[in-house]
Amino acid sequence: MDEVLVSAPAKLNLRLVVGPVRPDGYHPLRTLMVALDGLCDDVVVRRAGARSVACPGVAERDNLAWRALEALEGAVGRPLPVHVEITKRIPAQAGLGGGSSDAAATLVGVDRLYGLGLGPDRLEEIAAAVGSDVPFFVRGGVRWAGGRGEVLAAADPVAFAAVLVKPPVGLPTGAVYHTFDRLGVPPPDDGATRAPSMPRLAAWVRNDLWPAALALAPALGAPARALAGAGARRVLLCGSGSCLAGLCDDAAHARAVAERLPPAVRPLAVVEPVRA
Ligand code: C5P
Repeated sequence: MDEVLVSAPAKLNLRLVVGPVRPDGYHPLRTLMVALDGLCDDVVVRRAGARSVACPGVAERDNLAWRALEALEGAVGRPLPVHVEITKRIPAQAGLGGGSSDAAATLVGVDRLYGLGLGPDRLEEIAAAVGSDVPFFVRGGVRWAGGRGEVLAAADPVAFAAVLVKPPVGLPTGAVYHTFDRLGVPPPDDGATRAPSMPRLAAWVRNDLWPAALALAPALGAPARALAGAGARRVLLCGSGSCLAGLCDDAAHARAVAERLPPAVRPLAVVEPVRA
């Protein structure tokens, strides 16, 4: 085997409960993460003489896939030269986890290509050194995440569809968390562990970073109102933004909402949870 292709899906946080900043600068989270069908990057990992990462619009060494390769080589203690080629569809600074998903796909791809036999548990450990969201994408599916995002636990399947809208503004994760710190602590976590089905899911979702994202980018208000006006049951900020998800009952409802959006608010994708 000289080459493997790994699909790198986007994710949505159906709940993102954020606590006060820790001494290490990270925030404790309790979040329900869902890998999405309908929006993914493609990651091809090829045997090569030296390490390289090709990804339009991202400098090679800034790419989380590059950092993933460094972390993997450090963990196994030998060079694993590969060429990684990433076809991007998931926008950056959108809160959809695109860079993290590419990094996890790279780890999975190199494990397979070199027959390392590390498996998901070990890959999740290595992924935690690359970024808070990277461990989730090693397995994907639906998972509760704690810690700074890297402590994963099983979750029940969820059913919904969503229209994603990517406003022109991008939001850097660190800046959103810093603004969160200025805005005061959100209400306590109710400890819910089971997501209800739609339409009750629409009332259950929560993203504590929304006030911070809106304070940094008031332009998010107009597309959020447009999604609600087009019939989405609830509008949810994706991760730390800036992408917005209009939650819908099913794919047909989501496609109808996408069609009703005003011309200035172009849908990015209609998505559903990845099926197990
Ligand atoms: O872990 P990652 O590199 O993806 O995090 C990017 C930035 O987001 C961190 O430097 C930190 O400012 C913020 N962050 C946070 N709490 C988390 C995850 C990320 O404050 N749980």
